[in-house]
Amino acid sequence: MTAGLRTRVLAAGYGRLLRPVLFRLGGGDPEVAHERTLAAAQTLARVRPLRAAAAGLHVRGTSRRVAGIDFPGPVGLAAGLDKFGVGVHAWGALGFSHVELGTVTAHAQPGNDQPRLFRARESRGIINRMGFNNPGAAALAATLERAGVRRGNRAAGIPIGISLGKSKVTPLAEATGDYLTSFGLLAPHADYVAVNVSSPNTPGLRSLQDADALQQLVAALVTAARSFDATDPVPVFVKVAPDLTFDALEDVLSVCTAAGAGGLIATNTTLSRDGLVGADRALADEAGGLSGAPLTARAREVVGWLAARTELPIIGVGGIMSGDDALAMMDAGAALIQLYTGYVYRGPALVNEINERAR
Ligand SMILES: Cc1cc2nc3c(=O)[nH]c(=O)nc-3n(C[C@H](O)[C@H](O)[C@H](O)COP(=O)(O)O)c2cc1C
Repeated sequence: MTAGLRTRVLAAGYGRLLRPVLFRLGGGDPEVAHERTLAAAQTLARVRPLRAAAAGLHVRGTSRRVAGIDFPGPVGLAAGLDKFGVGVHAWGALGFSHVELGTVTAHAQPGNDQPRLFRARESRGIINRMGFNNPGAAALAATLERAGVRRGNRAAGIPIGISLGKSKVTPLAEATGDYLTSFGLLAPHADYVAVNVSSPNTPGLRSLQDADALQQLVAALVTAARSFDATDPVPVFVKVAPDLTFDALEDVLSVCTAAGAGGLIATNTTLSRDGLVGADRALADEAGGLSGAPLTARAREVVGWLAARTELPIIGVGGIMSGDDALAMMDAGAALIQLYTGYVYRGPALVNEINERAR
């Protein structure tokens, strides 16, 4: 089967069969669809022949080296979809060049009350206020240990990033210690770590993007990375919000450069509701971060702005809904890209489309 035909098969299978079912599950509750998707990924991760069949339908990407890590393609799965690492062996077979697990926190926590996830279908967006529901860093470390995933061993076939956040119970003033606890537990399993200071769903978290707080946090994590492995420290990426002003981004960039960050991830979800159209305007008052098509232009603008001012590699994420969006993000200066919402709406064909075009 040619690459084009495989992509058309995946597009039809997802668009006509799977997505209509997924979007109706649990009376249309997106969290039920999310759980079923993860269960399917877990099955794929466990059953080798299924994984081989999935890999056969996917197009491989072209490899590239970023922050000293070899990625087998341009497009990864963004943080938040596989928080617990249950599908860690599946994502490579689905054409992704890396997965960012998490966000996890030092303490296990349930996240916000449901409902906390909303589809804005007309706008091709999602609003979420999940609030870092996760089993805690120690549980993720145990999952990865069982799965045989250790830094650099490519047991999953692709590099593994791990996103770290702050536990809700930990006061902001003690945030650094919280991140360091998670980092200590997970560093043996991570090819890179992402410092999530940009989720809108943990009170005060975004203030950790302020210069002084960020300096303290990133410097502490980079120092820890060097103490774990002096010759080849785990790269520390910083994930930023799209709602920062250019002045604030300038500060973030200075801090990241001075503190020795390995790169940036731009962007997280937005608090803006400008991109909501039609019936989705009714969702405008739901608290949380908006992702998907309403974020495309701003995320690309932030990536372009950062790339023009730094040599640090940038992972571009936000509203990549098509191969064209992916190419535009890379033209803006992204060394790698990631998907979340585009994968929900377009499914596995989107990964093929990107891998075919971004060569
Ligand atoms: C339901 C949901 C949960 C998310 N959880 C996280 C998270 O835990 N950590 C994080 O850094 N980003 C999280 N994100 C943000 C995504 O990783 C991504 O930065 C954002 O959605 C923009 O990309 P997209 O438009 O392709 O979705 C989440 C996004 C969604 C939709």
